[in-house]
Amino acid sequence: MKRCLPILIVAVILAFSQLASSQEDMTVIAPDAFGKLTRPAATFVHDQHNEKAGVEDCVLCHHGGSDGVQDPESSTEGIPCADCHAVQPDKGTTGLSKAYHLQCISCHEQSGKGPLACGQCHVR
Ligand code: HEC
Ligand code: HEC
Ligand code: HEC
Ligand code: HEC
Repeated sequence: MKRCLPILIVAVILAFSQLASSQEDMTVIAPDAFGKLTRPAATFVHDQHNEKAGVEDCVLCHHGGSDGVQDPESSTEGIPCADCHAVQPDKGTTGLSKAYHLQCISCHEQSGKGPLACGQCHVR
């Protein structure tokens, strides 16, 4: 047991440091749910993007919801969009690709800043 303890401590520290740095290290969005992407993965340097864009409120993007209704108040940071948005959506729900496009592009349109063209996000 005594021998295992240092290994255990290292494992715990590693697990936590990975959690803490996950969005800091993010440079593109490429959820596994799509399988093989047909376009280059969209550029999104999470922390740098949000700093430049001046968006501090996590809920703006990490919104919650259930039973077909969006809840703009409940924060779901850390939960992948794909957990709630299916690649092949049921009728009346927003599919995964549309969820990203709507959220990203509508803010860029509204703020008059940020990329709108396919190749500016799906950079080759
Ligand atoms: C503001 C950024 C942005 C713009 C502009 C944008 N996309 Fe996307 N797109 C995304 C994100 C984010 C995803 C989900 C993650 C990924 O696929 O990289 C995505 C996913 C996709 C997917 C599904 C995943 C795949 O590669 O098969 C397709 C297809 C796609 N976009 C095509 C387009 C086309 C065509 C245009 C232009 C009409 C476009 N996108 C414009 C951000 C953007
Ligand atoms: C402009 C939109 C936006 C804002 C604002 C935003 N995020 Fe995110 N975040 C995303 C997207 C998109 C992803 C990728 C989600 C996915 O994989 O489906 C993500 C992923 C994450 C992840 C998971 C990282 C990983 O590698 O799995 C965490 C944790 C996270 N965000 C935390 C936060 C916190 C905390 C805030 C507020 C300080 C925040 N986010 C603000 C868009 C945003
Ligand atoms: C806890 C579940 C959950 C998570 C996580 C989640 N969503 Fe949603 N989202 C919903 C529900 C429920 C709706 C309403 C039904 C629908 O449109 O599918 C919705 C609706 C939307 C809509 C449509 C809004 C409209 O006005 O039509 C967009 C865009 C969207 N989500 C983007 C995202 C993005 C991008 C992420 C990840 C950063 C995300 N969602 C994460 C549950 C979720
Ligand atoms: C709440 C508003 C908002 C949302 C949501 C948003 N953006 Fe942006 N984005 C901006 C603004 C504002 C800028 C311009 C920042 C500047 O002044 O350079 C920007 C700039 C960018 C840029 C240019 C490079 C950079 O990092 O500044 C990329 C790429 C980008 N956004 C991708 C995305 C993607 C992909 C999503 C969806 C996952 C997204 N954005 C969601 C507001 C937003």
